[in-house]
Amino acid sequence: MNQLEKARIYEQENGSRILEEQRPVFHVTPTVGWMNDPNGFSMYQGACHLFYQYYPYDVHWGPMYWGHVRTKDFMKWERLPVALAPEEDYESGCFSGSAIEMEDGKQLLLYTAHLEKKGTYAGEKTITETQCIALGDGVNYVKSSQNPVITKEMLPEGFSESDFRDPKIWKEEDGYYCVAVGRSDTCGGAILLFHSLNGLKWEFVSVLDKSEDRYGTMWECPDLFRLGDKTILLTSPMGMFAKELEFHNGHGVVYLAGTYDKENHSFQRNFIKSLEYGLDFYAPQTMETQDGRRIMIGWMQSWDNYMTPEGYTWSGMMTLPRELTWKNDRLCQQPVGEISKYYTDSVIHEHCIVNSDEKITLENVQGRIIDMTVTIHGGDYHNFTMWMAEDDRYYTTITYDREQGIVTFDRRYSGLTVDGLDTRSFHVEETHGGITFRVVMDRYSVEFFMNHGEQACTSLIYTPQEADGISFRADGCLDMTVKKHQIQIPDTK
Ligand code: FRU
Repeated sequence: MNQLEKARIYEQENGSRILEEQRPVFHVTPTVGWMNDPNGFSMYQGACHLFYQYYPYDVHWGPMYWGHVRTKDFMKWERLPVALAPEEDYESGCFSGSAIEMEDGKQLLLYTAHLEKKGTYAGEKTITETQCIALGDGVNYVKSSQNPVITKEMLPEGFSESDFRDPKIWKEEDGYYCVAVGRSDTCGGAILLFHSLNGLKWEFVSVLDKSEDRYGTMWECPDLFRLGDKTILLTSPMGMFAKELEFHNGHGVVYLAGTYDKENHSFQRNFIKSLEYGLDFYAPQTMETQDGRRIMIGWMQSWDNYMTPEGYTWSGMMTLPRELTWKNDRLCQQPVGEISKYYTDSVIHEHCIVNSDEKITLENVQGRIIDMTVTIHGGDYHNFTMWMAEDDRYYTTITYDREQGIVTFDRRYSGLTVDGLDTRSFHVEETHGGITFRVVMDRYSVEFFMNHGEQACTSLIYTPQEADGISFRADGCLDMTVKKHQIQIPDTK
């Protein structure tokens, strides 16, 4: 039996033992074991496919496989068997990559073959990364006999063969393109562009942008697309050096907004900004829907924080897919519109007055599987706090310091039992004297969006589910409207 067949049997037997009540309701989790980056997020034969970095045999990272799910609406996901296993002599792991529907009806997966070989001395190893393809029918895939299709020989001078990965493919009138990350001593982490007429035979085109070690040591998981009148590059830097509240140390995610000159295949960056201000967000990937929306999904965990509770046999999940738009010179993200199909028990409390230092609760405003929008219309206050996943012992807060224009997420009392990161703050701006928080929770996560998606902040909380209270307090007087929907996906518990 080969590695793929073995993994398919293993995940079927062991995945079915995990109680649905232990999983989030509408966020993707691995069938069993470990999950990291989203891969191959794309349409194929009318459905959206999502693959993910996967190690079924443990709740920690291991030799990488590609797990697989499919959806028609980004909310309800169907599990498919593991798609790729590392079993060729050119790979010890199938690292991140992307997918596309080919003209002949096949689905092409373009992934990184990561090959690690032990050296003679303890700890010594050599790493080679090349880009490979597998072709399939949406369930079963065959690796090409021409693999690897993008090799170190195609890299520009000085680029390392050990940091060369994560190809993201798309199609234009003149063939296929992909961006991949590379690194050289002079450029630092960089985004490289490749071209192919048929998806099989590739050539190097240009270096689109580079970190020069100013924004991290290595860039991972690039993506390139147009949004409004801008070309956007996404990348996830490793080894980032903090800058005020904009960039935090370690792994982060940034977007580079600029213009793309198709003649010269060059990218002119206008600015670089954080894409997310939460504690658990990494390696996002985007796709375009048939109705022309740009949707992004990310890994809702971080390399710097291991959050999985003891005893769980799955680890890691994806964010809620988000619609991206370009507004007021910034990349905005909002929960995918399809979420509203699953609203139940909707309540609205219009123009509630929160008075000086009195903590209030609102009728039917509670829960751990919700989409809630809090609009502060205005008022005379300096600080506003919202408590979530709350009971006598636990809580998580979002605080708005109006004078400083800073929002802080704090999960210190969410039940964390490790000495990990628990708070993060970022700058926000009020519009017309008001501010909006949209909070989406799904058992273990809090994803919130400021001012209709101008900023997003995503973090995990493993608070016991009975802690489902929500309350509000301000140090002055304010006028707010709260809309809350419970989310229920039929056929899930
Ligand atoms: C990002 C990453 C990718 C790599 C994959 C390995 O999280 O490090 O660069 O392809 O994870 O699992």
